[in-house]
Amino acid sequence: MTTDNIISGFQSAFGTQSSPLIVRSPGRVNIIGEHTDYNEGFVLPAAIDKAAYLAISFRNDNEIHLFANDMNETFSIGIDDLRPIGDISWPNYILGAIAQFKKRGIALKGFNASLTSDVPIGAGLSSSAAVECAAIYAMDHFFETKLDRITMVKMAQKAEHEYAGVMCGIMDQFASIFGKKDYVIKLDCRSLEYEYVPLNLQGYKVLLLNTNVKHSLASSEYNTRRQECELGVAWIQEYNSQIKSLRDVTIEMLKKYVEPKDQLIYRRCKYVVEEKERLLKGCEELQQGNINALGIRMFQTHEGLSKDYVVSCKELDFLVDAVKNDPAVLGARMMGGGFGGCTINLVKEEAIDDLIEKISKVYTESTGLELTAYVAQIENGTEIIAQ
Ligand code: GLA
Repeated sequence: MTTDNIISGFQSAFGTQSSPLIVRSPGRVNIIGEHTDYNEGFVLPAAIDKAAYLAISFRNDNEIHLFANDMNETFSIGIDDLRPIGDISWPNYILGAIAQFKKRGIALKGFNASLTSDVPIGAGLSSSAAVECAAIYAMDHFFETKLDRITMVKMAQKAEHEYAGVMCGIMDQFASIFGKKDYVIKLDCRSLEYEYVPLNLQGYKVLLLNTNVKHSLASSEYNTRRQECELGVAWIQEYNSQIKSLRDVTIEMLKKYVEPKDQLIYRRCKYVVEEKERLLKGCEELQQGNINALGIRMFQTHEGLSKDYVVSCKELDFLVDAVKNDPAVLGARMMGGGFGGCTINLVKEEAIDDLIEKISKVYTESTGLELTAYVAQIENGTEIIAQ
């Protein structure tokens, strides 16, 4: 995506010669630690080289005019009428972001904004968080609010809750804003303390294999999983009021207080408690250079997500199974919320092309769908690229 293309797209959409402010905000991968963020556990994400770009400049009235370059769609609304809209989704990510400034009592002005993104939609790479973070960052600059980055992350997360209706954790927005080239972020989702860990993969690469499906269950089941975890916690709290979230819970507690009551809730909580440990060990292994061991844990994560947490789907399971016994693949698992999107694979660099060719063929034969593959480069987080 070149800055010139973004500027000319903006200028022709709004019939202006003015040069907009441009913010780039990336999508993310997550090495391990899935569905742990809203349970106050740890995650290990990184920002990638696919990003949303928001070009924006002030208007002389109180209207918000939006243009989605990739879809060639426009949308307008008055600042005083700000609300989530029903029929098309992309404006909500921007409107939800602006609404956070309005709620803080910040005096807003009208603006034109054009959105361009190469983060594939529905691929589990946080295309929506990328847009929310781009909008928050741009507004912060525009309205000179000088917010700190943690506040921006929280505002972007609220935009997703309130305007997209997904009760997401904090991982995606955090990774988009805090990303650092060639590092993963070990984030404690309880304290929001974080540490940058070098992603030293010793000749292996992060390969994303996109199923190109997004089952409609994704957001409703996401919210259901969150409630199932909260229910498990509530049952344990009846005996121990110190317990605040699954972060504080052990398998022994689950066996004692949750399993006798309900097998399904037990399995959901068990996955999260196991994943919490898996992440801490996997991160240690990455730091020690033992990426073989990390890879094995990624396969275990997939097993848990598929069998106990039940957020996978047949296409994702197919892709993980297809690489399981490949000597060039250290680890693979579904990534993100689930029910479609990508698998993340650690693959030996020189074997990548052959692997893509082989898996694409069997994937299409088995599902009738196309596979898309990307090698993810780890990049910096949200930044202003032109002003
Ligand atoms: C989505 C959410 C994140 C996180 C992941 C699962 O990407 O937005 O907050 O919960 O799913 O790990």
